[in-house]
Amino acid sequence: MTDTLAPVRDGKIIDGKAFAADLRAKVGRLAAQFEAQARRKAGLAVVLVGEDPASQVYVRAKGKSTLEAGMASFEHRLPADTDEADLLALVEALNVDPAVDGILVQLPLPRHLDEQKVIATISPDKDVDGFHVTNAGRLAVGQPGFVPCTPLGCLMLLKDRLGSLSGLEAVVIGRSNIVGKPMAQLLLAESCTVTIAHSRTRDLPDVVRRADIVVAAVGRPEMVKADWVKPGATVIDVGINRVPGREPGKTRLVGDVDYAAVSQVASAITPVPGGVGPMTIAVLLRNTLVAAYANAALDLASDAI
Ligand code: GUN
Repeated sequence: MTDTLAPVRDGKIIDGKAFAADLRAKVGRLAAQFEAQARRKAGLAVVLVGEDPASQVYVRAKGKSTLEAGMASFEHRLPADTDEADLLALVEALNVDPAVDGILVQLPLPRHLDEQKVIATISPDKDVDGFHVTNAGRLAVGQPGFVPCTPLGCLMLLKDRLGSLSGLEAVVIGRSNIVGKPMAQLLLAESCTVTIAHSRTRDLPDVVRRADIVVAAVGRPEMVKADWVKPGATVIDVGINRVPGREPGKTRLVGDVDYAAVSQVASAITPVPGGVGPMTIAVLLRNTLVAAYANAALDLASDAI
């Protein structure tokens, strides 16, 4: 029972909300600097096809945050039955639009649309999601490029908490193209010893127990238990799962980690909500700013953000 557990010490909680707010403020300052130099705002185009309620919430939040950071936001809402050719034509128009620095096509797309084909049509130089194979390849071989927002946000939180990650054992649970695979690449680039675990992994608790860093990105509510986690490990919870609440008819959000119990064992842990979630949009704004500087052929110091 969670009620019998000791409260989590403040210092253990990795406050993604506060970190994201700082990052957004920094992006805002640099966006103003960009506007003064380039004589235009940095611009992000977001494309939403259909009426998926969760996607509508995300897209609204992205547009609002873009404006708050002092950037231009271009929202394109298309009906659920949009032809693939029409969607590809829109992406191609955005690719050559000088006011647009970043392009994000909200996923998932309706089933009649080929996601890979749509992503492949986005110019890699405007692919602020980092989903294009060119950017995935750049990450894999260690070249500069756009990195998916959620795993990059996780890495920022880890480095902020731990400093150097060199030599640490990291276990990433989940092998998606959006989180698991790029997270593993980022940790490898930081000289971690990386294991990618997934639904077919044998003895998952044993695998997780050797980790100094656990990144859970499987979409299974509270799957990672306290006795899976090595005492003192750092735990990053990417999961956002809606489950029945304690009161009838209510729901609540939980991560992929049993927070109440794992927080007694870990030395640091991200809460849900307020951990990784707020980082995703902050990193999207950061990637858009980086894209803007590059597209305008202006210099942005490599350590500026
Ligand atoms: N759907 C859920 N997360 C994401 C994301 O980071 N980018 C895009 N394009 N779609 C998503």
